[in-house]
Amino acid sequence: MCGICGVVGHRPATPIVFEGLRRLEYRGYDSAGIATVKDGKIARCRAAGKLDNLKHALEKTPLSGTTGIGHTRWATHGAPTTQNAHPHHAGHVAIVHNGIIENFADLKRSLEAKGRTFETETDSEAVAHLLDDYIQQGLSPKDAAFATIKQLQGAYAIAMIFEGHDNLLIGARHGAPLAVGYGEGEMFLGSDSLALAPLSNQITYLEDGDWCILTRDHIEILDGQGKAVHRPIQTASLTTGQIGKDGYRHFMEKELHEHPVAIGQTLQRITDPVTRRIALPPMPFDVATLPRVTITACGSAFYAGMVGRYWLEELARLPIDIDVASELRYRNPPQPDRGLALLISQSGETADTLGVLRELKAAGQHVVSVLNVEHSTMGRESDLVLGMVAGPEISVASTKAFTAQLSVLAALTLDFARQRSLLDEAKERELTDSLLDLPSHAMEVLGLFDAIRSMARIIAQARDVLYLGRGICMPIAQEGALKLKEISYIHAEAYAAGELKHGPISLIDPSVPVVAIAPSTILFEKTLSNLQEARARGGRILVFTDAKGAEQLKDIAEHIIILPDVNAFVAPILYTIPVQILAYEVALLKGTDVDQPRNLAKSVTVE
Ligand code: F6R
Repeated sequence: MCGICGVVGHRPATPIVFEGLRRLEYRGYDSAGIATVKDGKIARCRAAGKLDNLKHALEKTPLSGTTGIGHTRWATHGAPTTQNAHPHHAGHVAIVHNGIIENFADLKRSLEAKGRTFETETDSEAVAHLLDDYIQQGLSPKDAAFATIKQLQGAYAIAMIFEGHDNLLIGARHGAPLAVGYGEGEMFLGSDSLALAPLSNQITYLEDGDWCILTRDHIEILDGQGKAVHRPIQTASLTTGQIGKDGYRHFMEKELHEHPVAIGQTLQRITDPVTRRIALPPMPFDVATLPRVTITACGSAFYAGMVGRYWLEELARLPIDIDVASELRYRNPPQPDRGLALLISQSGETADTLGVLRELKAAGQHVVSVLNVEHSTMGRESDLVLGMVAGPEISVASTKAFTAQLSVLAALTLDFARQRSLLDEAKERELTDSLLDLPSHAMEVLGLFDAIRSMARIIAQARDVLYLGRGICMPIAQEGALKLKEISYIHAEAYAAGELKHGPISLIDPSVPVVAIAPSTILFEKTLSNLQEARARGGRILVFTDAKGAEQLKDIAEHIIILPDVNAFVAPILYTIPVQILAYEVALLKGTDVDQPRNLAKSVTVE
C-alpha cells in the first residue's frame, strides 16, 4: 500500500532509490516517482503506471544528486495519473507519503487561504505545502518537519527532502511502517526491510509517533515529543537472493512451488526434534481456563482464521468469535475477562487487523499474532508472535503464507487441546504425524500442474464460477473463489455446499462451472448429494478429491483432480494448493498481470 524509499549518501541516489522501489512495487503499482537534491536544488521525475514507465521517464529526464526519495503508489485520493504521482514538490521541499492524511481537506483549505495553489487531487500534497509553509516562515528543516507532523491526523509514513540541504533526509511514521538502514557514509529509509535488503542489514524499525533525521554519517530518532530516543538496531536476515523469481515466470508460480518449504520450515520451528511433538513457546496466559478466543484477519488470512475456528472448536473445545477485521473493529462485541485475541496476517501491517489488535488489547484481551513478517507493527504490539517461516511473499495474491498460517493454527490447536487435557497421546501422535507428513504430500500436489491446467481451460471460458465446500473445507472454497477473482478477474463465489439449495442453485446452468473441494473424509456423502443436485440441473462439476472420493464422483464430475489421501485434520492445508494453482493457471490463460493484478496492493495499510 504505497512503498517509500530514500537515501542520503555519497553515490548517485536515483539508481539506489529506483532499485528500492522495484522491491517495493508489490505494495502498489499505480504510479511511481523519484526526487533528488543536487547542488541545493530539488528535481523530480514521475510516471503513471508500472515502474518501467518511470524507468523510461528517467532515461529522458535523468536525476542526479546523492540524496533522494522515491514512491510507488497505490491510489487512495485521486486517480493514478502522473499529476497525482509522488513525490509532491512545493516551494523548497519534496515529500513522499504512504497512508491517508485524514484532515487534509482542512489543511488544504487553510493553506489555500494563504494563497497556495494545489496541483493534485491527493491528500499527500497538503503535507508538502504545510512543510514548505513552515520553511517559508523561517523554520529550520528539522523544526518545520516537527511542526508539520504535529498537525497531521491519520496514518502516514513520510520522507522529506529540502532545497539547500544536500545532506539531509527526514522521515516520520504514524500508523504506517517505516524503517531506517545504516550504511558506511550513507543512510537509508524504507517502508520495510525488503526495500533496504541489499543496502543494509542493520535496520531500525521506527515506532508509531517516531520521526528521524538522516545525514550521511548519522541517524537521529526522536519521539512524538521531539525527544531523542534509542530504538534497537536489528540485523535483518533477508538477502537479495531470496527476492528473485529464480527462473519462474511469476513470483506467484515460484511461491506456489514454495508451499512444501513454507509448511516444512514453519513446522520445524515449532516441533521438538527429539519427541516430534509440537512445542510452541509458552502462552502468556492459562490455556486451560481461557474463556474465549476472538479470531480476526482480512482476506485470505481471514479464511485461514476460519479453518482455525473449526480446529479450535472441535479439538480444543474453545468458544470462538470470528469476523473480518474491518467489521469486528466497529462491532464492539462484549469481551470476556482475559480472553484471547488471535490475529492472523502475512504482512503484520494491515490497518484493519492492526486496528482490532489495539481495540482488543485495550479491552484486556491477550494478544497472540500469527505473522510472516515478525518485525512488523503487529509483531511489536502483540503479547506473543507465532511466526510462520514462509519467507518473503512478493506476489500480491497470497499463496504460501496461507498454508504456513494454517500450519501454525493447526499446531496451536494441538497445543491448546493438549493443555486443556482433551487429546490422548495416541490421537496427538496421529494428528501431529499427519501434520509433519504434509510437506511431502504438498510436493506430490505440485506434480498436478498439468492436470489442473486442463481444468483451468474450462474455468477460463466462464463468466461466473461457484466454489463449494463443507465444514472445514468451506473456507478453502472461499480462498479458491477469492484467488480466482483477484488474479483472473472472473467472478466467483463460494458457498457452503449445503447452502446451494437455499438460493444459489438458481444460478446453475452449463455456463457456470461448479468447483468442489471434497476430500472423502469431510462430510463427503453430504457434499456428494449437493453436487448431484447441481449436476441434475446441468451444472458442470469439477472436483478436488482423493482416490476414494473420485470413485464415487466419477459419474457426475466432468473433471476430477485426485489428491494424496491424508488425514481429515490436514486436508484443508493440502487442498489449498491445487485451488490456488487453478487460479494461477486460469490467470495465465486469461493473460492477466498475475503478480500485480489491477487495483490491488500487497500490504493494505489504510482502512
Ligand atoms: C489474498 C490476499 C489478501 C490478504 C489480505 C490480508 O490473496 O493476499 O486478501 O490476505 O489483504 O493481508 P495480511 O495477511 O498481510 O494481513
